[in-house]
Formats: sequence, structure tokens, C-alpha cells
Amino acid sequence: MNTPVKKQIHLAAHFPGVNATTVWADPRSGSQIDFSSFEHLARTAERGLFDFFFLAEGLRLREHKGRIHDLDVVGRPESITVLNALAAVTDRLGLAATVNATFNEPYELARRLGTLDHLSGGRAAWNVVTSSDAFTGENFRRGGYLDRADRYTRAAEFVAVARELWDSWDGGGAPRPFAHSGRHFDISGEFGVRRGPQGHPVVIQAGDSDEGREFAASAADIVFTRHGTLAAGRAFYADVKRRLGAYGRRPADLKIMPGATFALGDTAAEAQEKAAEIRRLQVSPQNAILALEQVWGRDLSAYDPDGPLPDIDPDPESQLVQGRVRIGDPLAVAAKWRALAAAKGLSIRQTVIETTGRQSFIGTPESVAAELDEFVQTDAADGFILIPHLTPGGLDDFVARVVPLLQERGSFRTRYEGTTLRDHLGLARPPAAPAPDAPAPDPKDPDAKDPDAPAPARGTRGAAVKG
Ligand SMILES: Cc1cc2nc3c(=O)[nH]c(=O)nc-3n(C[C@H](O)[C@H](O)[C@H](O)COP(=O)(O)O)c2cc1C
Repeated sequence: MNTPVKKQIHLAAHFPGVNATTVWADPRSGSQIDFSSFEHLARTAERGLFDFFFLAEGLRLREHKGRIHDLDVVGRPESITVLNALAAVTDRLGLAATVNATFNEPYELARRLGTLDHLSGGRAAWNVVTSSDAFTGENFRRGGYLDRADRYTRAAEFVAVARELWDSWDGGGAPRPFAHSGRHFDISGEFGVRRGPQGHPVVIQAGDSDEGREFAASAADIVFTRHGTLAAGRAFYADVKRRLGAYGRRPADLKIMPGATFALGDTAAEAQEKAAEIRRLQVSPQNAILALEQVWGRDLSAYDPDGPLPDIDPDPESQLVQGRVRIGDPLAVAAKWRALAAAKGLSIRQTVIETTGRQSFIGTPESVAAELDEFVQTDAADGFILIPHLTPGGLDDFVARVVPLLQERGSFRTRYEGTTLRDHLGLARPPAAPAPDAPAPDPKDPDAKDPDAPAPARGTRGAAVKG
């Protein structure tokens, strides 16, 4: 009799970089741009047998009242370049780059991702984001030329064209001419990079609107979401998985991975204390006023962060966004914050601490492992994109203390079974078109079904990887 296999947790490591999660004031915080930082986090994730390492993207430095955000002044290197370098110091870890579908071209990006897939032995992934605003677009020749309503029609066509290009090399390793004529792209020629070991690099989607979810259901392998509580996670999970049937896809074909933060302690009380301390450091007095100004859409620099919330109302036109997602009406948010501050007697800074970005998982390694497992076993998620609060050592403890407990629970791998990211995710490799003179496949020969199957596993340098 077969032992039933428990649903497996997928883990990814988000390099924190420029965001308010990272506690830069901590003396253990290192550079967000030195290669050694990327390398440290990637090696830690690979030691923890994670599915992939993840880099976000911002195409323009963020500003507030005409000043560049403090966290952005160091800049952020280009993702695919960093991942190509990481491919040389890791062996099995998937390598995911966030790249915008609005301000790029399919031929060029398919070439760069195809190259990463080759150099890494089949570990490339692309997080397709769709920011289309003029603020971002000013950096580009065409400016903010895309109507917001078209962001997903372009993204869907972009991904389809990239896949046509990857598929244009047949299983015999020969290029075939391609021609695509559509609303956003009209291109033809021959593609310069042969099919990579994964056939198609893994596609991730991170957008929350109805169109975004539909795009994910039709074309993505993974969704990166901010729905990270048990209730919101289950609702999101059910909604997105329900959409797959219309595209002839099964629930297992698309993995749902919320972004997750954590604070670990030897006891529950110690973890809570650590979590509170992290929040205090994340929401400095200046950051508290900044967060308030983002809701209010007004200059509030004259207010005391340790004093009460302003009695003037927010500008109703203010664009309230979180991680580039529009999250709601500023007046409604202000009303909620005021009610909370009145009920608990909170200052501006305390209100911001209470209402924004509390860690998703707080507790001992045992309780955090149990909670992560519950999320996955009860279909609130298929796994997590972990966002540590320290760069680059923020996953060290998690890998040393939580991963072994997930393994004990039978919910997490004890070794990499395959070599490609598709293998880690349990995703089939799209078959290549047969070569024109290929013999008819022998149905008894498993390899014959995929004439372009990757070469046998490369050397397992991973065994020698040091932290
Ligand atoms: C969890 C998450 C992470 C995102 N990360 C990025 C990013 O790194 N860079 C970026 O330009 N946009 C990012 N986005 C923005 C989305 O690509 C998209 O532009 C935005 O969510 C608007 O699409 P929507 O209306 O479907 O939500 C992210 C969105 C989500 C939900």
C-alpha cells in the first residue's frame, strides 16, 4: 500500500533590498548592493533546500515630496544580471527576476531569460509585473504610453510571444522562423537562443485585480500574493484555483505563494518581544510621518510622531498604494486609524506600528513550523516567499531552526529531487516541437516523449556549499 504523501510546502527567499521591511538600523544589516549579500542569502536558501531566490524590481527611485526615499538612494542592481552571477555560486536553487512587461520587448527579454536558464542549468523564473504608470514610464523612450486598462492585455501577449520564441527551436536543436502579429507586438525572424533546460522558464505573477488573477490562471506557474492571513489566504487560493479550469489547467499547475515575514524566539514571549522591537525599528519616527503622509496625501511634517493623529482629513484624491497595489480609499483608512487610536490611546507612531506590516508568523520555531504547515495543509497557500527583516543574514535562523521541523512534519523535502526549478515545483516541462526528420516516438521509451530533454544532472556542487 502506498503511504499517502503530505502536501509539500514550497519556500522562496525574497532579497529584502529597498523596502521598509528591512531594519537598516540593525548593526547586522549589510549592503543591499554588494554581491556578497546576494550570495549569502542565496546560499542560505539553497542550504535550506528552497525552491527559489527572488528579486523584486523598481524601475524608478521612489520619491516623497520631491526627495528620493532614504532606502532607495543606494539603488538596486538589475535583477537578471545578479541572478546570472548567482547561478555560478549555487547549484539547484531557482533564480527569479521581477521584470516589467510594460517597458520591455519580448525578443530581448526572452533572450535574457533563455540565457539565464542555460547558464543556471534550468533554474530561471520571471515574475511578470505590469506597472504602467507615467511616473515609471518617464525613464523610457515611450514614457507612460500604456493605458492602465491594457496592462494585462500587453502582459498576456508578451508572455505568449516569449513562449513562441522559446518554442521556435525544435527538439532536434534547430531554429525555426517565427512570426507573431498581434495588438501589441508585430515581430518575425529567428530567435537567437536555443530552448533552455526548462523549455519555458517558470512564470510568476504578482498583481491582485480581477484581470491580474485571470492572467495568473491563464498563464502563470506561481502567484506571489499579499493575501497572507489564514482567512484571506483561503479565499484568494480558492478564487484563483477555481479560475484554472476555464484554461484546461489543474489546481496543481499553479502554486500560490504569499509573501511572509517572521520573528522567531526561544519562547512565545521572547518572539513577541522581538517582533515588537523589529516593528519599532521599522517604523522610526520619520517613517511614521511618512506612512501617515502616504494615507493623508498632505505634508504632515509639522506633526509630532509621538502625538495624536491629525484632525484634518486626508486629501480624497490621494493614491493609497501598498507594494504598488492600490489598497483603498484614504478617507476610510483614516477613519479606521482614528477609531483604533481613540480606542487604545495611540500616538501617530503607535498607530502606524499597529496598522501596518506586522510580521506574518511570530513564535518559537515549533509554533511557526506548525502554523506554516497549517496554512499549506488547509489550502491558504502552497508555500511562502519569505521576506527577512535583515540583509543578508535574515534567513539564517529560519533555515537552521524551522526547516528541520518542517522536514520532521513530512511537509518539506530533505533533499532536492531534481535539478530544475520546474522539478522543485512539480511542474511538467513543456514539450518541444519534434524535429522534422525525427523518428516516430516509441511509446514505451519515456525519453522519446520529450526529444529535447535536458542533459543528465550536473555535478552536485551543492553538497559542498558553505554558509
Ligand atoms: C506581492 C506583489 C509584489 C509586487 N512586486 C512588484 C515589483 O517588484 N515591481 C513592480 O514593478 N511591481 C510589483 N507589483 C505590482 C504588480 O505587478 C502590478 O503592477 C500591480 O499590482 C497592479 O496590478 P493589479 O491591478 O492587478 O494589482 C507587485 C504586486 C504584488 C501584489
